[in-house]
Amino acid sequence: MEIINVIDNMQARSDKMRREGKTIVFVPTMGFLHEGHLSLVREGQKYGDDLVVSIFVNPSQFGPGEDLETYPRDFERDLELLRKEGVDAVFAPDAKEMYGENFQTFVEMKKLPKHLCGLSRPVFFRGVATVVTKLFNIVKPHAAIFGEKDYQQLTVIRQMVRDLNFDIKVVGARTIREADGLAMSSRNIYLNPKQRMSALSLNQSLIKAQELVENGRIDTAEIIDKAAKMIRSQPETEIDYIVICDPETLDDMKTIDRPARMALAVKVGKARLIDNMILKP
Ligand code: PAJ
Repeated sequence: MEIINVIDNMQARSDKMRREGKTIVFVPTMGFLHEGHLSLVREGQKYGDDLVVSIFVNPSQFGPGEDLETYPRDFERDLELLRKEGVDAVFAPDAKEMYGENFQTFVEMKKLPKHLCGLSRPVFFRGVATVVTKLFNIVKPHAAIFGEKDYQQLTVIRQMVRDLNFDIKVVGARTIREADGLAMSSRNIYLNPKQRMSALSLNQSLIKAQELVENGRIDTAEIIDKAAKMIRSQPETEIDYIVICDPETLDDMKTIDRPARMALAVKVGKARLIDNMILKP
């Protein structure tokens, strides 16, 4: 497995792979890998023959007061896990390599960041769109895999690829959960055992919502209210948002008369957790 820290070297490698007729598949990450990330790697193997994973904790997507400095890192362990999966190359630049002193160009979107996580994390999606654009230009993949766990991020990337004509196939991969239903996340490490119990209410309230819809309830306000009550009944939870929205525009839906996305963000202790699920009438 090649480990590459320099942009020029990564681009040269990708050019060579393309000349050799290889199909490059890319999985961007911020490291501290878990089964969710590894599932994207496995999914990626279906789409090509050269698999590249990036590990980069991207400063431009963290706002002031967020956890950039304390974001968990374990580079050696990550490499070990990726070697076992048969990954071909890891791109792991530092922040100076990615954002030189005179850096000044950002990718901004008009509407999608005005929903869900974008409201409480105003610089997040501009940081994500910018770094993913840079990574696409550096890794030059034919396909890229993103998790549905970060549903709004997946939506933003799909829209950006359409808007800016990236010649890249974007693949969404299903959310991997712990045995008890908690969506895997690098930030779960912030939870103590009691908070971890409270955190189960995210997934449980989504399952409850699905049951309500299956039983013919289509009023989103009622469903959101029930979910909020379930989450609030657990200690140390603070709801950021619960929405039921159009799967593409992320605009709120009043009734579930067609497939919808239910998404939520909840602070449990100091961890801000997100989860989402499809709701089908
Ligand atoms: P990170 O949080 O490390 O996630 C990397 C990828 O793993 C994302 O596509 C995310 O959706 C996916 N992922 C995380 N948890 C998952 C789970 N439980 N099941 C399935 N997939 C999961 O997302 C980022 O990094 C960054 O914003 C990035 C795209 C790398 C840009 O900096």
